Amino acid sequence: MNHAENLPPTLYDRVHAAAQAVRERTDFVPHVGLILGSGLGGFADGFAKSVAIDYGDIPHFPQSHVVGHKGRLVLGERGGACCVAMQGRVHMYEGHSAATAAFPARVLVALGAKVIIVTNAAGGLNPLWAPGTLMLIRDHIDLLRDHALRGPNDERLGPRFPDMTKAYSPELRTLAKHAASGAGVSLEEGVYVAMPGPTYETPAEVKMLQGLGADATGMSTVPEVCVARHMGARVIGISCITNQAAGITGQELSHDEVTETASRVRKTFESLLDAILGALVAKKELGAS
Ligand code: HPA
Repeated sequence: MNHAENLPPTLYDRVHAAAQAVRERTDFVPHVGLILGSGLGGFADGFAKSVAIDYGDIPHFPQSHVVGHKGRLVLGERGGACCVAMQGRVHMYEGHSAATAAFPARVLVALGAKVIIVTNAAGGLNPLWAPGTLMLIRDHIDLLRDHALRGPNDERLGPRFPDMTKAYSPELRTLAKHAASGAGVSLEEGVYVAMPGPTYETPAEVKMLQGLGADATGMSTVPEVCVARHMGARVIGISCITNQAAGITGQELSHDEVTETASRVRKTFESLLDAILGALVAKKELGAS
């Protein structure tokens, strides 16, 4: 702890103060952290032996204001996995820095999560994918104008220059693909590109992103993945393609379409998450029991 007077707490101190506040509410130790994107928050309502903590009760936690995002941390068991889930996240377009948007993910890792499963709603850049397609993230392209690791580095959290060759764990991608086929859920795989938002992309930007080799575009995820990797957790990312990106069909985009598709696909998405949790437990990928 930083005891010097007048010095603001360091990032390390803030992460550990937040984790400590959670530990004061429960001695449950999670091994997997879930960041539940638009429409998926309900997944944590199915946790057994659960404890829910409002973000407002956790020191230094940013608050989310997006409709449909609850803003609480839920700890509990699902499919034999000890989980901590974020019901709601903050986005950079709300005015937060990338580091602030990613802060909760750091707390998930500090609480014990060895694997972070991050989900999101995204626009499809691949014209062959209909809305409702689920995409396993193979890699990402960061076009956000801020980085979650910008600023002084604290070696206690992780290295100055984290490697991103395997940002989305190849072993866990294989596991997720097997879990999906076992559960009868079709799962595409591709590259996610993060854009700052909050406007959706222009058709010209969509063409550029397609040219860059991206398959899905969204406004979240990358800051959280960067801090999870910084802290040594392994990551699985899954996008729900809620709409075809701007200009592909000529139809205008709306947040209503995004939430409608997300809720239509929710049950399938939840079966996929259950299958992945089951496989993580069966394959002993979560470290301690
Ligand atoms: N673009 C960016 N973010 C999104 C989209 C999109 O088309 N759909 C859902 N989130």
